[in-house]
Amino acid sequence: MTIAKTIARLLSRGMGILLLVTALQACAVKSTYIPRDESETGLRDAAEALGLHIGVAVDAQELENNPKYAQVIQREFSSVVPENALKLDALQPRPGEYSFTQADAILAFARDRGLPMHGHTLVWHRQIPAWIRNEKRSADEAEALLKTHIETVLTRYGTEIASWDVLNEAVGPAGGLHASFWLASIGTSYIPKVFTWARKAAPEAELYYNENDIGISPSGGGSRFTNPLINYKRLMRKSQTTYRMLEKLLARGVPVDGVGLQMHIRPRYRPTRNELQQTLRRFALLGLKIRISELDVALEAPVTEEKLIAQGEIYSDVLAACLAEPQCTGVTIWGLSDAHSWIPQVFKNLDQATLFDENLKKKPAYYSLLNTLKTWCEKEGADSPRCVKSGTVVQRGESR
Ligand code: G3I
Repeated sequence: MTIAKTIARLLSRGMGILLLVTALQACAVKSTYIPRDESETGLRDAAEALGLHIGVAVDAQELENNPKYAQVIQREFSSVVPENALKLDALQPRPGEYSFTQADAILAFARDRGLPMHGHTLVWHRQIPAWIRNEKRSADEAEALLKTHIETVLTRYGTEIASWDVLNEAVGPAGGLHASFWLASIGTSYIPKVFTWARKAAPEAELYYNENDIGISPSGGGSRFTNPLINYKRLMRKSQTTYRMLEKLLARGVPVDGVGLQMHIRPRYRPTRNELQQTLRRFALLGLKIRISELDVALEAPVTEEKLIAQGEIYSDVLAACLAEPQCTGVTIWGLSDAHSWIPQVFKNLDQATLFDENLKKKPAYYSLLNTLKTWCEKEGADSPRCVKSGTVVQRGESR
């Protein structure tokens, strides 16, 4: 449909100046997508056509109390991950007393809709319940606590939840290992041990190491060192420490199947597409599967239409980097809407990081992702196994 017809249709359907402005800007911005018709297939179908999952972090209470929340998730996403329900403080709030209710509810929602669920996260330096971290514990005692926790959770879920963040954020912000109760109590051996215990408890599950701020690496190219807000040296050290830790674990036969790059993008952390693509390839060459595990793009106040359009470009860059990496299994968005995002709870001047606004209305970033999914094979992926496999390859010169 021509642009004039799109605009005329938008006007005739009274969709408001905002959408018209966006439509006009879409002409200038390569990847923002304006829906031709609400019956358009959503992100889920478009991603599945390319062999990619598109996931979202979910909250059990919202799933239970907000029918529209559940409906949007079912329509747009092909996997879910509990934002908090599978963390140690949620599962074992008191010694030996497990609370699986919220995790079970999310799993039931996923199971009823045929959605795979990713487990997040068995071991982290945060969200450790007070009864564990507030007591000095010997190495043996801390190991027994952690091993029992992992065995208990994976025995319960290890077959239905097919992939897990076994260990989250073990590397510190400037390289080196992140301070943690587990490191202090057990020592560095806690890292290989948790993967070994997990493999034994759930032999079929895919075991991931999950990390933040590792999308920029020495192998990256492009606009490195050009963004004055980014501390490239610090981020390089963090990415290098993570890479070398995984390389050593794999060399020792520690069962790590994949790496999750969280990708919480914000003004001080924004890999270019090329840098991210090179970094994904670097980790993939270790033999690891890749997940973009917690994507969101936080915007600085005041949020303008231009910033929302630019946000869509960044989302599309990350998606395109994953599409271009054959070992990238998918992208998970960290929170369904701006009303559910963790960002404003932590960053006072950042907000509106997700694909849907606080009323669950699709934002330009949603359309940008959908457009990238729908056009990637034509624009750059014609030779990719994702396109050939899905039958969407466009023979050169052939009209669609
Ligand atoms: O469950 C308690 C509730 O009982 C209490 O009334 C309430 C008020 O204090 O707090 C509730 O716990 C909150 C928890 O989320 C569950 O909602 C914590 O305060 C709050 O800090 C916690 O925030 C989560 C954060 O991890 C914890 O560090 C965010 O929702 C979650 O999005 C965020 O996710 C992490 C990933 O797991 C790992 N990667 C980074 C990412 C962002 O920090």
